[in-house]
Amino acid sequence: MIRELTPPSVVLEARGGKSLDRWLRTLLTEHLVMAYAQLMNGPAMTHSPFGPWALIVGGSEGVGACFARRLASDGVHLVLVARKPAPLAETAAAARALGVQVRTLSLDVTTPDAIERIRALCDGCEIATLICNAGASHGVGGVLDQPVESALHLMRLNCETPLRLIHHFAGEMKARGKGGNIILLGSGAGSGGAAGIAAYSASKAFLHTLSEALWYELKPSHIRVLCLILGLTDTPSMARAGMRAAGSFTAEDPDRVAQTGLAQIANGPVYVMPGIQAFLDAMRQLPRAEVVELMSHATASLGKKD
Ligand SMILES: NC(=O)c1ccc[n+]([C@@H]2O[C@H](COP(=O)([O-])OP(=O)(O)OC[C@H]3O[C@@H](n4cnc5c(N)ncnc54)[C@H](OP(=O)(O)O)[C@@H]3O)[C@@H](O)[C@H]2O)c1
Repeated sequence: MIRELTPPSVVLEARGGKSLDRWLRTLLTEHLVMAYAQLMNGPAMTHSPFGPWALIVGGSEGVGACFARRLASDGVHLVLVARKPAPLAETAAAARALGVQVRTLSLDVTTPDAIERIRALCDGCEIATLICNAGASHGVGGVLDQPVESALHLMRLNCETPLRLIHHFAGEMKARGKGGNIILLGSGAGSGGAAGIAAYSASKAFLHTLSEALWYELKPSHIRVLCLILGLTDTPSMARAGMRAAGSFTAEDPDRVAQTGLAQIANGPVYVMPGIQAFLDAMRQLPRAEVVELMSHATASLGKKD
């Protein structure tokens, strides 16, 4: 987007008395001045409600990369955090090619100093949007069949880290008084306990409830909160975990998820992706024991290999 400088054509109109030579010289000089001003002031000026800066935790692959691309297309500068450097660099390069500034950090956000490092990375950026995308399950397995650290890791990833990030960045948004946006990635798995992904579904239930309360608490500060509930989505992480579409479930396109999250930001506190709305609505009518059985069978079928 172009900054609001007076275009040379308007200037020329106001100088009707000058010779053609002087007009041309003025035209050239003013074009150079405008180009220089744009260079010095940064590549893009955004009027997007998501900018000037967005922080995407888990912004390198899958849904996170799609959020990054869509926000960059809208002129929003990005701070991207994820562990693997290569996909992070690739997503950052694609966003820079769209004309925005990008800061990246290769970091496991469950490590003790993660929040401090993210805060330092964001120094000087006005973060108007926080997206907590990192958070997928590590595959299917019983609670007692895995080290307890596996469940605790999911609690840090899906509960502690988002809460700490919201506490800091929503605090800044509130203090600035210009509103803001928070998107948390929920899951249909958070609607009921599911054998095989117990800690994951519990952690997503935490995010769901947290979003609802925050939506209400932050509304007076014009900070919009949305928990976007996903069904199976076609991401590299899910493929690595061996999860794939089965039975009546089909895998959602990650870009459609990102597009929906941004489009539904004003319709919080919770938005369920259309692909699993009917399933979750039907579950709400059932006794809890049946919900758990249904969820557990569905999870087992998603993880099953031929
Ligand atoms: N895919 C699905 O079927 C599905 C279904 C329901 C809900 N969801 C939710 O949608 C979100 C995105 O899922 P996803 O399938 O794309 O998988 P994901 O494994 O959460 O990966 C998403 C992004 O987060 C990063 N990430 C993961 N763990 C991280 C960590 N400890 N520290 C820093 N970055 C980390 C990943 O890059 P690195 O691996 O390089 O760190 C990637 O950029 C998650 O919250 C998930 O629970 C997904």
